[in-house]
Amino acid sequence: MTPTPSPPLPDEDAVTGLLRGVIDPELGSDIVDLGMVKAVDIVADGTVTVTVALTTAGCPLRAQIQRDIRTRVGSLDGVSDVQLTWTEMDKEDKARTMERARANAQGESPDTQVPATTRVVAVASGKGGVGKSSVTANLATALAARGLSVGVLDADIWGFSIPRMLGIDGRMSGDPEGGRITPHELAVGDGHLHVVSMGFLVDDEGSALMWRGLMLNRAVQHFLEDVAWPRDLDYLIIDMPPGTGDVQMGLARMMPRAEMVIVTTPAKGAQKVAVRAADMARRSHLRVAGVIENMSAFICDHGDTYALFGSGGGEQLAHDAGIPLLGSIPLESAVGQGGDDGAPIALDDGPAAEAFRALAETVATEAIPPIEMQGCTAHILDAVNTAVSAATDTAGTDDQSPVAGEGQPVQIG
Ligand SMILES: Nc1ncnc2c1ncn2[C@@H]1O[C@H](COP(=O)(O)OP(=O)(O)O)[C@@H](O)[C@H]1O
Ligand SMILES: [Mg+2]
Repeated sequence: MTPTPSPPLPDEDAVTGLLRGVIDPELGSDIVDLGMVKAVDIVADGTVTVTVALTTAGCPLRAQIQRDIRTRVGSLDGVSDVQLTWTEMDKEDKARTMERARANAQGESPDTQVPATTRVVAVASGKGGVGKSSVTANLATALAARGLSVGVLDADIWGFSIPRMLGIDGRMSGDPEGGRITPHELAVGDGHLHVVSMGFLVDDEGSALMWRGLMLNRAVQHFLEDVAWPRDLDYLIIDMPPGTGDVQMGLARMMPRAEMVIVTTPAKGAQKVAVRAADMARRSHLRVAGVIENMSAFICDHGDTYALFGSGGGEQLAHDAGIPLLGSIPLESAVGQGGDDGAPIALDDGPAAEAFRALAETVATEAIPPIEMQGCTAHILDAVNTAVSAATDTAGTDDQSPVAGEGQPVQIG
């Protein structure tokens, strides 16, 4: 009998490359850059052991860092198991790491304007029309109603619908002092929405804009880099364009810490397309946090349910892709109506509204909880940030245009 050949072992550089996508949200950089990765050991059976030094052993972010390392390194060919060993930094190490964090906070490394303590959630799907934008608008609203600060980035540059769904009319204003775009702000319960969309930069939803691939990415990059996102932003929910193209790749590069949620309909077969989105996320080493099934069984006024678009698709996708099902949103005309009226139904009564609130609860308490700023080195970094922004507020920059200078959208049709 010939033994089955085992896949080649991953090399250390590949593992380290992936670890660069693991961010210590408190220190504002990746764990390699911060000197937290002390060793990477690869043994013949494909087990990879990563040794990580924390600033304090009781760091509350440990679980998150562990999960990130597991998902990323585990996605590499030839890896059979990922083990973590934790150590605590000595005084010197800690000083060096804090120095690095301070340098990052002062903007020495080019980074996005999205705070390191913001959880970035990209809402994606294999194809259009499955309800990404409806899910984005309602999930963001339900999260804000929990008292959170929630950003919404409409990255569907061609097919933007977020301004209409959230009932925001108008243009984005640049901040004449700092040259940054100020997101539209909406108060929701005890929380806030901070919204940015291509729709605020063009005249009407119907105008057919064609952004070349590069421009498209540039627009999203612009929204990540040049928008004055609030410093206390808990979530940034990104409404992705359909498919698995340039924007997804660009996001993975610009925001390796972004996590994807995949929206699918319950129809068998729909998840084939959705699986592609999940594969794509994995290939670019983004964590896929879960599946949301939309347009699930329709519940009539008498309480009877009708599975108009089939059933079990979300469950199936979650199972096939090995990720949790975060929620199922029933098909209900009020969802579409709320979208057209600019009043997301997430705060109303009814099965779909309740499902959106349940989804927000799962996201906020289990799947993608906000980053707690207590413990670790958080307050030190906070103090640094405050000092830095006080210093830079007076300095300013000279870029005042709301759209990045190079190139203009090409009008077609
Ligand atoms: N749960 C739902 N029940 C009823 N209609 C829905 C539901 N989710 C979305 N829709 C409707 O389906 C259409 C497509 O939704 P949309 O959120 O724009 O999808 P996408 O952003 O994926 O293209 C819209 O008209 C929307 O109002
Ligand atoms: Mg959409």
